[in-house]
Amino acid sequence: HFAATAPRPLAGRRAVVTSGPTHEPIDPVRYIANRSSGKQGHAVAAALAALGAEVTLVSGPVSLVDPAGVRVVRVETAREMLQATLAALPADIAVMAAAVADWRVADAADTKLKKDGSGAPPPLGLALNPDILATVGHHAALRPALVVGFAAETGAVEIYAREKLARKGADLIVANDVSPASGVFGGDANTVHLVTAEGTETWPTLPKAEVGTRLAAWIAARLASATDL
Ligand code: CTP
Ligand code: CA
Repeated sequence: HFAATAPRPLAGRRAVVTSGPTHEPIDPVRYIANRSSGKQGHAVAAALAALGAEVTLVSGPVSLVDPAGVRVVRVETAREMLQATLAALPADIAVMAAAVADWRVADAADTKLKKDGSGAPPPLGLALNPDILATVGHHAALRPALVVGFAAETGAVEIYAREKLARKGADLIVANDVSPASGVFGGDANTVHLVTAEGTETWPTLPKAEVGTRLAAWIAARLASATDL
C-alpha cells in the first residue's frame, strides 16, 4: 500500500484552483467561449489533492471527470467564477488556471435574438469582466500565501508573463506558448516557463498531468521554505 506512505506535504493546506473556459451568454441559447479544455487546471487540482491539500476546484464548463478527492464548484460566467473563488477563501494556495473570458456581452438578452428582416446583425456591446487572479493577488485581507497564475501567450511569452506577474500580484506565472503550432489547446502536452521575481525556469515539454504534478511539488517546496524562515 504505497498510498499509506505517500508523502503529504500539503496536508492541512487549503487551495483554490480555477480551470476551464467561461461561457458568457449572448441570449438564452448562445454564448461566447474559448478553446480551453480545463485539462491543465484539473491536473493541478488533482496533484495538489494528491499531496494532501484540501482543494476547491472552481471549474467552467468542461467535459472532464471530476478529479478524485477535490471539491468541485461548477460555474459558467467569469462573474460566477469570481464569486465562487472568493467564497473558497481563505486559502494558502490559489492557482488561477482558467481561461476567463476577458469580455462579456454587456446586455445579454433574456429572449432569443431573432433576425429582424433588415439583414442587419444585432450589435453586441461588450463589457470588461473582473480579473479573478488580480482580485485574489491584491486582496487586502484574504490574499493566499502563494498566488499562481497562468499566461497563455503567443510571441514574446516571457515578457508578457513578467508584466502579468507584477500587474496581478502573483508569486508565479506559469507561461505557455499557445500558438496554433504548439498544440497546447485541447492537447495533452504543455511546454511551460515558470516566471517569478527571481527569474525564469523553463521545463521540457511534458504531459499536462506531469506539469500538474511538478507544479504541485514546486508549490509544496515553496510553501515549506517560506514557513522555515
Ligand atoms: N485571469 C483571471 N481573470 C480574468 C482574466 C485572466 O483570473 N478576467 C487570469 C487567468 O486565469 C490567468 C491569468 O489571469 O491565470 C492570465 O490570463 P491572461 O488571459 O493571459 O491575462 P489577461 O490579463 O486577460 O491578458 P490578455 O490581454 O493577454 O488576455
Ligand atoms: Ca485574457
